[in-house]
Amino acid sequence: MRVYCAEDYNRASRIAANLISAQIIMKPDCVLGLATGSTPIGTYEELIRRYEQGDLDFSKVHSINLDEYRGLSPENDQSYRYFMNRHLFDSVNIDKKNTFVPDGLEPDQEKACRDYEETIRAHGGIDLQILGLGHNGHIGFNEPGGVFEKQTHCVTLTENTREANARFFASMDEVPTEAYTMGIGSIMQAKKIVVIVSGESKKEIVKKAFLGPITPEVPASVLQLHHDVTLVGDKAALSDFPR
Ligand code: GLP
Repeated sequence: MRVYCAEDYNRASRIAANLISAQIIMKPDCVLGLATGSTPIGTYEELIRRYEQGDLDFSKVHSINLDEYRGLSPENDQSYRYFMNRHLFDSVNIDKKNTFVPDGLEPDQEKACRDYEETIRAHGGIDLQILGLGHNGHIGFNEPGGVFEKQTHCVTLTENTREANARFFASMDEVPTEAYTMGIGSIMQAKKIVVIVSGESKKEIVKKAFLGPITPEVPASVLQLHHDVTLVGDKAALSDFPR
C-alpha cells in the first residue's frame, strides 16, 4: 500500500486528482469507480479545474458509482446521482450516458442489484476505484456485519451512518433507511483503488481499517488484501499512521 500524507485537505485533494488524472491520461476510455460523501468533493473540484485548463478529457471515460439511496429519484438533491451531476458530471465533458449510479427508484431489489452487476460486468470491471471511508469503516454502503457481501445488494443503513449523513438532509426523518451498494467483491476486483480520508474524526477508523484485523465488522479492512491500494489523506486523518 502507498500512503500520501498531505499537509491539508486541499493538498490531499490535489494528490487524489493527480492519481485520477494519470489514469485518464494513460487510458482515456477507462472505467472510474466513483464515490460520494464530502471527502471527494475537493478532488472533483480539482478535476474540473484541470478539465477547464484543457489538461483532461472525459469524453471517453465511463464511470460507475458505488451506491445510491433506495427510494430517492435522480432529481432529489440528496440522491447520489444528483450529487455526481452537481459536483462533477455537469462541469466536465463526460457523456452522461456513460455514467452509472444504482437506480434508487427500482422497487424490485433483486432487479436493481442484478442490473447493476450486469453494468459492472459489461464494462469489464473498474480500472480505478475511488473510495471514502465511513466512520464505522464502511465503504460504499457496505456496512459492518457478519460477512463481506460480494455483489451489489440492498442494505439497511445503520443508525450511525444515518446520523453521519443526516447533516445533508433537512431532518433525520428524511434520511433514507436503505441503499443499494456495490459489493465488496466488485470493489476488490478494481485494478487500482484510491482511498481518500480527511479530518481528525477519521483518524481512529483509518488505523483500524488498515492496521487492524481483516474483518467484515470493519468492511474497509478487506482493502489490506488488495494489491494496489493508495491511501491519500491529510495530516489530521493520518498523523498517527506509520509510513
Ligand atoms: C457515505 C457514502 C460513502 C462515503 C461515506 C463517508 O456513507 N456512501 O461512500 O465514503 O459517506 O462520507 P464523508 O466523506 O462525508 O465522510
